[in-house]
Amino acid sequence: MRHTIAVVGGTGAVGREILEILEERRFPADEVIAVASARSAGQQVEFGEDMLTVQDLAKFDFKGVDIGLFSPGGAVSAQYAPKAAAAGCVVIDNTSHFRMEPDVPLVVPEVNAHAIAHYPKRNIIANPNCSTIEMVVALKPLHDLARIKRINVATYQSTAGAGQAGMDELFEQTRAIYNNQPIQRKKFTKQIAFNVIPHIDKFMDDGATKEEWKMVVETKKILDPKIDVFATCVRVPVMIGHGEAVHVEFERPIDEDAARAALRAASGVVVVDHRADEGYVTPLECAGEDAVYVSRIRRDPTVPNGLGLWVVADNLRKGAALNAVQIAETLVKSYLRKAA
Ligand SMILES: NC(=O)c1ccc[n+]([C@@H]2O[C@H](COP(=O)([O-])OP(=O)(O)OC[C@H]3O[C@@H](n4cnc5c(N)ncnc54)[C@H](OP(=O)(O)O)[C@@H]3O)[C@@H](O)[C@H]2O)c1
Repeated sequence: MRHTIAVVGGTGAVGREILEILEERRFPADEVIAVASARSAGQQVEFGEDMLTVQDLAKFDFKGVDIGLFSPGGAVSAQYAPKAAAAGCVVIDNTSHFRMEPDVPLVVPEVNAHAIAHYPKRNIIANPNCSTIEMVVALKPLHDLARIKRINVATYQSTAGAGQAGMDELFEQTRAIYNNQPIQRKKFTKQIAFNVIPHIDKFMDDGATKEEWKMVVETKKILDPKIDVFATCVRVPVMIGHGEAVHVEFERPIDEDAARAALRAASGVVVVDHRADEGYVTPLECAGEDAVYVSRIRRDPTVPNGLGLWVVADNLRKGAALNAVQIAETLVKSYLRKAA
């Protein structure tokens, strides 16, 4: 059984990673089509040994396309995902636009693959925020073990989370500083080189940022609506890979060894946790990798049944492209039927 796949936003940071992962995992596709804006229509993007000619989304017909892997930004998905869905294409959308709509499943396959079953209501499945994905992958086995009551998380998010332009800005500012030239700010609200910025996405009425709000509401939708979440999201001068200091309060007692054992048995998680220089994983080491890495597991004695963890993952892979491709794999395996 083979399928036609469109990668919308195929020239972007997430889209290029999707193309790479489709090829790496030998996704059962007859045809893969790269789609982006008129700006890059006609350009070539790599797909394994082949080059794909980029199509213009505004002129693209989704008839006959089975799955659309979308990452063209929220406003563009808002306009084009429903059109693709109406043409019979199942859209897996990486933007935040549809995530909290009640009739759109929000899926991390290791946590709530069963939610994919609801996709026919809109023909759209949403991929969660990068920081939410890695946190819920790490917390699902612990929730099953001792029921999570409350999460307090601080993120250390790489510039890749702001797309190709985010990584370019870190590089250009760093180079300008070393060359004694003035720095330019485009994507970030303050200088990102040699700095950290506690502000991702816009401010909301309660003082939280929208990135922080996403971690709260998405965790509830994916993992459990009863869990309270407090998040502080911070941009750091790292190219790829988000780190998270996650502090969790459980309903039932849980010790470090039981937590480590549950995490070791969990799909998609790798535990690296030795109290030594090499005994934990950093964003640099997780870039290009598929797993969610958990390190620094330790008891938090300041609350009842508390545990602290350090979690890292490649935000372009598990935080976006890989998660979307895993959803597509489940769709193909368990839901879409097509003659060979
Ligand atoms: N980066 C992450 O870690 C991450 C994680 C999860 C979700 N996301 C979400 O995924 C989306 C894309 O992120 P990214 O990091 O890949 O950004 P990016 O590197 O800036 O890429 C944006 C992509 O969207 C395309 N695009 C922009 N406007 C378009 C239009 N009017 N019509 C068709 N295509 C258009 C661009 O094509 P052109 O080349 O033609 O401009 C490019 O392919 C965002 O909504 C982001 O929030 C990102």
